[in-house]
Amino acid sequence: MKYLILGNGYVANLFKDSIGSEAEISTVRIENYDALKAEIQSKKPDVVINTAGKTGRPNVDWCEDHKLETIVSNVYGPLTILRVCEELGQYWAHVGSGCVYESKTTKDVYNEKDQPNFFDSFYSRTKAWSEGMLKEFNVLQLRLRMPLDDMPGPRNFVTKITKYEKVINIPNSISIMEDFVKAAQELIAKKATGIFNVTNPGSITHAEILDIYKEIVDQNFKYTIFSLEEMEKITKARRSNCILSNQKMEDFGVHMRPVKEAVRDMLVKYKANMDAGKIRQDKAALQKA
Ligand SMILES: NC(=O)c1ccc[n+]([C@@H]2O[C@H](COP(=O)([O-])OP(=O)(O)OC[C@H]3O[C@@H](n4cnc5c(N)ncnc54)[C@H](OP(=O)(O)O)[C@@H]3O)[C@@H](O)[C@H]2O)c1
Repeated sequence: MKYLILGNGYVANLFKDSIGSEAEISTVRIENYDALKAEIQSKKPDVVINTAGKTGRPNVDWCEDHKLETIVSNVYGPLTILRVCEELGQYWAHVGSGCVYESKTTKDVYNEKDQPNFFDSFYSRTKAWSEGMLKEFNVLQLRLRMPLDDMPGPRNFVTKITKYEKVINIPNSISIMEDFVKAAQELIAKKATGIFNVTNPGSITHAEILDIYKEIVDQNFKYTIFSLEEMEKITKARRSNCILSNQKMEDFGVHMRPVKEAVRDMLVKYKANMDAGKIRQDKAALQKA
């Protein structure tokens, strides 16, 4: 299976590291119709995976002040890929986001048929807009949420929350990247199309993740919790907190490990990598430096 991966950031490199020589990263600009079409025609992949998109640095608040760049990469870009892939009859997958919902209680669990209900950040709005348009076509849409992996690094959600002064403590769906990449590959092998919540079953709070971190990685680690209201005083845009159902993927025969089991296993490997001094750098930020 030959994979052509668009974008060269965190998710792209996790795919590349996991898949190996069958995967190639392309840095073609996805909004450039001619260059993109030529790239796909010359590489002739079995599948194109789009991981390109603006996520913002240091965080998604960047998108509030860079709306045009965000629209070009998160909406116009995916639509350009759609046009090219439709014209070439090319199967493709798009990495979307689960950050298009807001759960007010643990009973608010969203499946793929539910309409997005979180529009309080420009980033989330662009992800919902592109998703809504792509779902009219035979595109595989992989909804990712709060990615955690076993390598310390600035893009890893675990590393991020260990560096925050204070964290919120709200149940969320998350994606353990080892499971996400495997599930994505299985869905691709089945030539699945449509939207899939690619998150580990169940939900977990930041404090629960940090308690397991304390137990497995660093017994001296301390953290402080603050309320969502307090957090919203220091961010420009509100953040999505939500719980997603992954029943559709389960029914499709693709399984991810229960969230708490997967977090525990990931943190054991995280500690080993940390002790070995390994780190996954932020490629997208380094390229700008
Ligand atoms: N990481 C998360 O927390 C998370 C959660 C849910 C969903 N997602 C989605 O997953 C995808 C990948 O995220 P990530 O964490 O890998 O982000 P990332 O580390 O910021 O990488 C994104 C990559 O896309 C490239 N890119 C942006 N616009 C492009 C364009 N128009 N043409 C070609 N390349 C372009 C960036 O390069 P330049 O900087 O040079 O533009 C960068 O290499 C995004 O669509 C994001 O919305 C991410």
